[in-house]
Amino acid sequence: MLQWFLRHSYRYRSYLIFGLVMIPIVQFFRIVRPTIIKWVLEAVEKGQGAENLALALDYVLLFMICIVINFVLQALQVLATSYAGLNIVKNIREELFDHILKLPFVFFHSKNSGQIIIRLTSDVEAVRAALSGGLVRVVGDCLAIVGILSILLHMNWRLTLYVVIAIPILLKVTAWIGRLIREGMTSAKRLLSQMTTAVSEAIGGLEVIHGFSQQQSVLAEFNKLSRRYTEKYHELNNVEPTFYGFVEFMGSFLLACIIFDGTSQIHAQTLSFAELVAVVTYVQSIMHPIRHLTGMFNNLQNAWTSMQRIFNIMGESEEAEVNQQPALEASEVSRLKPALEFRDVKFSYGEELVLKSLNFSIKPGEKVAIVGRTGAGKSTIIKLLNRFYSPCSGEILLDNHSLENIPVTSLRERIGFVLQDVYLFSGSVQQNLSLFEERFNQASAEQVKILKNSGFLTLLGQELKDVEHNGENFSLGEKQLVAFGRVYTKNADIFLLDEATSNVDVRTEQFLQNQLNLFLKNKTAIIIAHRLSTVRHVDRILVLKEGQVVEQGSYQELVSKRGEFFEYFRHQYKDLAI
Ligand SMILES: Nc1ncnc2c1ncn2[C@@H]1O[C@H](COP(=O)(O)OP(=O)(O)OP(=O)(O)O)[C@@H](O)[C@H]1O
Ligand SMILES: [Mg+2]
Repeated sequence: MLQWFLRHSYRYRSYLIFGLVMIPIVQFFRIVRPTIIKWVLEAVEKGQGAENLALALDYVLLFMICIVINFVLQALQVLATSYAGLNIVKNIREELFDHILKLPFVFFHSKNSGQIIIRLTSDVEAVRAALSGGLVRVVGDCLAIVGILSILLHMNWRLTLYVVIAIPILLKVTAWIGRLIREGMTSAKRLLSQMTTAVSEAIGGLEVIHGFSQQQSVLAEFNKLSRRYTEKYHELNNVEPTFYGFVEFMGSFLLACIIFDGTSQIHAQTLSFAELVAVVTYVQSIMHPIRHLTGMFNNLQNAWTSMQRIFNIMGESEEAEVNQQPALEASEVSRLKPALEFRDVKFSYGEELVLKSLNFSIKPGEKVAIVGRTGAGKSTIIKLLNRFYSPCSGEILLDNHSLENIPVTSLRERIGFVLQDVYLFSGSVQQNLSLFEERFNQASAEQVKILKNSGFLTLLGQELKDVEHNGENFSLGEKQLVAFGRVYTKNADIFLLDEATSNVDVRTEQFLQNQLNLFLKNKTAIIIAHRLSTVRHVDRILVLKEGQVVEQGSYQELVSKRGEFFEYFRHQYKDLAI
C-alpha cells in the first residue's frame, strides 16, 4: 500500500519535501519566542539605563521578526502541502474510479452504491486532509513538544519535572479519547454510507414508493438511520469538549504547581523572574500542541483507515486480470469467424446452478433464437458471451478459441448487444448511439446515415430530444429503440439481442423486423424473445429449460414436434390463429 501511495506522491515530491523541511524551521521560530521574552525581561531587570532599554527594544524587534518569518514560512508550507495533497488525491480518485470501472461484476454483488460513493468521496477527502496539513501538523507538534521540553530542561530541571509527569498522563488520555473518536467515526461513516444508499434507492424507486404509498415507511427507515447518525455524532461531540476541559484543567493545575514552586525558587534566588515567565510561557505553549495532537492524530488514523479501504478496492483484480493472460492478439481476434459454441457450460451466480451443462453451437452467419421461461438463464448466456461473468466449468468458444484466450476488449469489439434493461446516459440521442466515442463516431457515421434514411430515427419523434438522467424522459419502447440503434451503429458481426423489441408496438416491431433482416445479413445473431412473432423468422430456435437446451430446430420442426416449444407458445398460437 505504501509503495502505491509513494508512487502517487513521487510527482509532487518537491512540494512535500519542502513542507517537511519547513517543519523544524517553522517550529524553531515558534519555540524561540518565549526565550526572546526572557531576554527582554532580563534586559529590563538589569536596570533603567538607556543601553538596557535599547537592548530590550532590540529583542522586541527580534521577537517581531520571528513572528513575521514564522507567519510567512508557515503560509508557504501550507500552500505547498495543500497543493501536493489536492493533486495526489485527484490522481488517486481518478485511478480509483478507473479501477472501479474495470472491476468484474461479481465485485458489485457484495457492495452497495453508497459504499462505493463513500470510497470515492469521503475516504478520498480524509486522505486529502491528512496530506494537506494533518501530517505536517502532527510532526510539527511532536517536534515542538520535544523542543520545548529540552529548552525547559536546560532552563530549570525541577520545574520541567512537573511537565514530564503531566505529559504521559495527557498523552494516555489523548490516546484513549482518540480510540473512542475513531471507533465513533467508523460507525458514523458506515451509517452515512447506509443513508446514501437509502437515498439513491429511494430516488431510483420513486414511482414504486409513490404508487404503493410507501413514503412513510421509506421515511421511517431513513429517519432511523439519520437519528442513529446524529446520536453517534452527539456522542463524539460530547467526548471532545470533555477532553479539552480535562486538558485545560491539567494545564492550569500544572501552571499553578510551577508558579508555586517557581516563586519559592525565586525566593531562594535559584531562579530569576524572567526565567519563571519563560517557563510559564513555554508550559502554556506546550499545551497547545498536546491538545491538538488528539484531533490531528484522529484525522491521521482516519486517513489511514480510509487509505486501507481505498487500497482494498485497488487490490481487487481487474476484469482482464481475473483470467490468465489471453493467448490471442487483438489482430488475430478480428480475423476469427463469428462462430459460437457453448461446451458443457455450468454457471452459478452464487450457490445454485443457473446453467447446467449447456451445449449448443452457432455457425457463422446463423440467426438463432433462444426461448424459455422467465429465469431459465437466457440473459445469463448473453452476459457470459460478453464475459461479464466467467463459467464455473466448461468452455465458451469463438471460432474454436476459448473466450478465456481472447482479450476482453477485442472480444467485445466483435459483439453488439441490446440488454433487457436498457440504460441511457444523459446527453443527446446521437451521443447515446455512438456512446460518446470519437473513433466510434466516425466509423458509425455511415450507419447513423442509414438509420436516418431508413426512418428509424423518426420513430423516436421528429425532434430528437436530449436524454435526461437514466433516460427518464423516454418511454421504455423509445429506450429500446435507442439501444437498438446503438447496436446498429456498432460495426460488430455478432449480435446479441435480449428482448430488444419487447416494449415497442407491433407496427414498430414489424418495421424493426424488416430492418433486422437487412441489418443482420451475414451476421451471427442470438435473439432472445418471448414474442412468437420475433422468433418465427430465425434459422434455428433453442428452447432453454432449467439451464439446459431441451429442444432445438427450425420453427416448423418445433411446431410439428408439439413439445416444449409448442407448450410454451400455445397461447400465442391462438392469437396468431396458427
Ligand atoms: N446478478 C445476479 N445474481 C444472482 N442471481 C442472478 C443474477 N442475475 C440473474 N440471476 C438468477 O439467475 C437465473 C437466470 O436469470 P436470467 O436473467 O438469465 O433469466 P432469463 O431467462 O433471462 O429470464 P427472463 O425471461 O425473465 O429475462 C434467475 O433465477 C435469476 O434469479
Ligand atoms: Mg432475461
